[in-house]
Formats: sequence, C-alpha cells, structure tokens
Amino acid sequence: MRERLRVGVVGAGYVGLTSAACLAELGHTITCVDVDAEKVGRLREAEIPIHEPGLPELVGNSLAAGRLAFTTEHAALRDVDVVLLCLPTPTGQAGTADLSAFDLALTTLRDTVSPHCVVVIKSTVPVGTAERAAAALGRPVVSNPEFLREGHAVHDFLHPDRIVIGACDERAREVADALYDGLDAPRLHTDPASAELAKYASNAFLALKVSYVNELAELCERLGADVTDVTGTMGLDERIGSAFLSPGPGWGGSCLPKDTRALLHAAAEAGVDFTVLADAVTANARQLDRVVAKVRQAVTGSDDGSLSGVRLGLLGLTFKAGTDDLRESPALAIAARLAAEGAQLTGYDPGVRRAADLGEVQLVDEPSLVAKDAAGLVLLTEWPEFRELDWPQLAQLAERATVVDCRNLLEPGELAQAGFTYFGLGRC
Ligand code: UGA
Repeated sequence: MRERLRVGVVGAGYVGLTSAACLAELGHTITCVDVDAEKVGRLREAEIPIHEPGLPELVGNSLAAGRLAFTTEHAALRDVDVVLLCLPTPTGQAGTADLSAFDLALTTLRDTVSPHCVVVIKSTVPVGTAERAAAALGRPVVSNPEFLREGHAVHDFLHPDRIVIGACDERAREVADALYDGLDAPRLHTDPASAELAKYASNAFLALKVSYVNELAELCERLGADVTDVTGTMGLDERIGSAFLSPGPGWGGSCLPKDTRALLHAAAEAGVDFTVLADAVTANARQLDRVVAKVRQAVTGSDDGSLSGVRLGLLGLTFKAGTDDLRESPALAIAARLAAEGAQLTGYDPGVRRAADLGEVQLVDEPSLVAKDAAGLVLLTEWPEFRELDWPQLAQLAERATVVDCRNLLEPGELAQAGFTYFGLGRC
C-alpha cells in the first residue's frame, strides 16, 4: 500500500505550487507556506498567479478534498513528515546563486519542524548546499531537484523522465522516495552533491544544444543549406535526439541563464575551465546581435541601414510559447536593442495581457495592430497560433510586408503567397 505523507512545501512559485498540487493528487496531505499574504489569500480561492495548464484544476480539486492548504505560517509545518524547499535562487553576486530566501527558510525551519521531519531541497542550489543545510539543521537533508518545464510543469511532474534522490541517510532517502509512489520513472539514488550537480548539468546541456544549433543556423545560411533538414537528419540519431535543436532568438527564461551562470561560477571556483559552457553563453549573447543584424538587413536592405524611426511589429514577447513569463526573455532583449537604435516598436503576445514592464514596446491586444503601417514584422516567440494568423490581411495592413521569423515557425511558401518577403533562421 502506498504511504500517505504529511508534506510541507515552502514557497508557492511554479515549482512549489506544482509540487504541492501534484503531491496532493498523489494522495499526500500538503501544507504550502509562502510569505506573500496576498498570494496565499488568492491561492486559498484556487486563484493561480501563474499560467500553468492543469494547475488550477488540480489545486481546486485538492483544496475541496481537504488535501491541500495554503498559509503564511511556518508553524503549520510542526507535524509534517517531510518538508520540500522550493524557494527562488536567482543570480546573485558574480554569477553565483543568491541563497538569501533559501537560508532564511532554513533558519525558520530549524525552530519549527519536528525532529523526525525529513528536509528535501527541490530548489536549484549550488553543489554542497544540502550538506551545508544538514549541518545547519542538525539532520540529514535530501537533494531532489525538479526537471519541470514552464508551461508543462504538471505534466512533467506526473510523467517524469527520471527522479533523482540524493541522500546520505537511508531513512531520509526512503521518505523522499515515498513521495513519488505511484509515479513510473527511473529512480536514481545518489549522494546529495551528484543530485545537485545533475540539475545544473542538465540545464547547461540544454543550453549548449540550443547555442550549437543557433550557430549552425548561421553556417547554414552562409553555405546554402537548410537548418531544418540538417537538424532533422541529426535528430534521428538516438545519441543526439531531436529535442532542443530549433534555432531561435536565444535561450532565456528563469532557469537556463541563471543556472549556466551559476555552474560557470562553480566551475571557476573549483579551478575547472568549462570552456564549452562559457562559449555557449557567449554564443547566446551573440545570437541577439545576429537577430538584430537580420532585422536590419531585412527591413533596410543593407547591413548598416538605420533603424531610426522605423516601425516594427513584434509577434511574441515571452521567453517561449505556452507561458506568460517575460524573465530573461530574448524577445525583450532584442526589443531593447532595436529601440536603442530608434525603432518604434509595437508588440503582441497571446500570453501577455496586463501592463508588464516591456521597456520601449507598446503592447497591443491584436496581431493586426502590430502589422498596421509596420516596415517589418519580427516573430520572436513560437506561439502556434501565429501560424493561423490572417497573413494576407497583415500584408495589406503593413507598410512593407516583410517578416523575420526567428523561430522558423511559418511556412515560407505560404507567407510568400500572402505577399510577404520572408526571412527565417538558417533557411535558404
Ligand atoms: C528549463 C528546463 O527545460 C527544465 O527541464 C528545468 O526543470 C527548468 O528549466 C528549471 O530549471 O526549472 P524552462 O525554463 O521552462 O525549463 O524552459 P525550456 O523549455 O527549457 O526553454 C529554455 C529556452 O530555450 C527558451 O528560451 C526556449 O525558447 C529556448 N529553446 C528551447 C530554443 O531556442 N530552441 C529549442 O530547440 C528549445
């Protein structure tokens, strides 16, 4: 029979909230603590502050069934069997992870949870943090990193590729293991340091793949090859795999940039020259320049044409489709560069409705409004609905029907038929 645990979750961000809702779905009883009283108030009404498919339903069901509760009081964790730390670890000084929220939670926990409670770290934390936390709390601490993609977090939690549990203590490992009873996935039992590093190494490897394909796309353009055919061929090799081989405006979001920085910092501290990763980060920054150069060439017809006063319409602002997240979005970084050169920018994104900080971009709520009088459209996020836009109508509305498709989302032939001059990445 499955063991039902009383679980505390500290932090109601996308990792904490998804973990809380999914563990409740697996039959455990969850108390989720967050310091943000307004957020907790909304969560009690099953109002979810982030866009994550399936999450509102799971939270609503578990609240109604009494298996999930939200509070601002850490004291509510007094009787839990296991507590999951799901706190943000943003970039701090010199690229290292800022552990201030994490450390504060540790201090609070030390005086709160019972002696038998097992502490599990889900946050992405530098190698050695579990060991340090164990010393601070005077008990074993488990490293159990998550591999949840934003926009697919519920699916990824309930259908994981793997579950890694890094523990030195047998009982702590068994309790952490029992959290996932009912999930069918390979389990890796490691020491805490290996589990911590496995998380960074995975995200950094994904970043490497995308940087590789972004540079490959430029080479394709120079050599007259088509990147889709090249990566299509590569991806069928099981050793390479087809995922993460789509060129784009660069990798962004709340995880890959911060985790590559933190891993590079850890490598430097350890005296390891992680050249290939450092180059992937450099290539990612260069990708922004490549996109700006491509837009300039497309709309002015010249490598040194001026963008001053040029009206450009941006399709997509989030760092990827299926999310409302603008953190470290390459689309916004590109927008900032175009604006710095004097371009007038309007932007449309199906995930961005409220007044977010969009810099110089004027947000409009219809794609036709970004096309109106534009000298060019720049597609930056791969929202599938952009394929279904009325492209002939957009061509009519634009001053010049030019589109730079930074996600290779559109069919060049269809766009040409609609009246557009089409530019993709790595497509001849
Ligand atoms: C990433 C990892 O994929 C998750 O496994 C991990 O758990 C998560 O970080 C985390 O550390 O919490 P996420 O940040 O949601 O997930 O974003 P990804 O789906 O990995 O995309 C990252 C970036 O790469 C995006 O900007 C995306 O547009 C870009 N990308 C991805 C490409 O440009 N091309 C591709 O082929 C794939």
